[in-house]
Parts: sequence; C-alpha cells; structure tokens
Amino acid sequence: MDSPHLLDKLSPAITRMIRMDHSHVLVLSHKFTASASPDRKKAIADAVCLALEIHARLEEEIFYPALREVDGANEVLGKAQPEHDEMRRLIDVLRTIGPTDVHYDATFHQLMRNVTHHVADEEAVLLPAAERLLADRLGELGMQMTRRRLQLARPHAGQLVVAQARTMPATTMLMAGGLLAGAWWLGRRGLEHYQRHH
Ligand SMILES: [Fe+2]
Ligand SMILES: [Fe+2]
Repeated sequence: MDSPHLLDKLSPAITRMIRMDHSHVLVLSHKFTASASPDRKKAIADAVCLALEIHARLEEEIFYPALREVDGANEVLGKAQPEHDEMRRLIDVLRTIGPTDVHYDATFHQLMRNVTHHVADEEAVLLPAAERLLADRLGELGMQMTRRRLQLARPHAGQLVVAQARTMPATTMLMAGGLLAGAWWLGRRGLEHYQRHH
C-alpha cells in the first residue's frame, strides 16, 4: 500500500466518518467524573472541546453545504449551525473559568447534554438524508473531509498526542475508529508512520 493516494483510498464515506467522530467524543466525555482531579477534568474537557471544534468545522465547511444543495428545507439542518454556535459559547466558558471553578462541571455537563441531542438529530435525520440523497458522493465527500481534517489538526498535533495519552488507552483509540482514526489524531506524523509500516 504505497500509493500516493493512500489517504483517499482509506477515507471512509463521510457519513461513517461523522458517526465515528460522534462515538469518539461521547466515549471520551464519559471519562469526566465528579471525583476526578481538576487536572484530569481539564485534560478530558480540553480533548473533548478540540475534537468538537474540529468536527463542527468539518461539518460546516463540507457536510452541511453538500446536504443543503439537495435538502435545503430540512429543519434539522436549519438549526444545526445555531447549535454549533451555542456549543462554541459553552466551550469558551469552560476555557475561561477553568477546572477549579464551581461551575466547571455543570458547564461541561450542559455542553455534553446539548451535544448528545445535536448528535442524535444528526444521526436520526441528517445522516440518513445524506445516505439517501447524496449516495454517489459520500466517498468523495469523505476524502474532502479527511484532507481538511489533517489541515485543521496539524497545528494541534502536540495537544492531540498529549490528550490521547492522558485520556485514552491505545486499545480504545483503535476500537473507536480503527487505524485511520489514529492517523487523523496524530496528524501528518501519524499518517507517515502508518504508511511506512503498512
Ligand atoms: Fe453538528
Ligand atoms: Fe456531528
């Protein structure tokens, strides 16, 4: 597997990739417990927030516009962007107040309640609509999303590696998304490592 287009060949369909992102964030968020130390809470919340920011941006740049072209009147699609905006507001609050603030846990749980509803709507309505209406474009959109993800993740590669080490055992990483997900989170270095060894 030494094709220059390895990445394209390995990219899952965009809808599968979105589901994998959702599972990854929800699994990660369950590690946030009331009894965890402030440092650990912050490590988990930071990793969740970064994953959410990258995911939301990928949906806004690639997935939502493609779906809007074929399903512009979809009501769930219409409220997706405002829900992302509210998610970013809560992420800002978390970063501002820090893990020793009395409101930190409640803010994190509010964020995850919102994310859980938003994800449920996407998985019940938007992803099936895309699979129906964009069936022949899902692979190509998946490739676009993978390329853009690597660009967005690159400036955060160090943080992603640290977050992964502090919050998630390697086996969970593999189970959560397969080897390709590992390559995403590690950015270019992870991908090159993967290409050299497979
Ligand atoms: Fe979304
Ligand atoms: Fe999503």
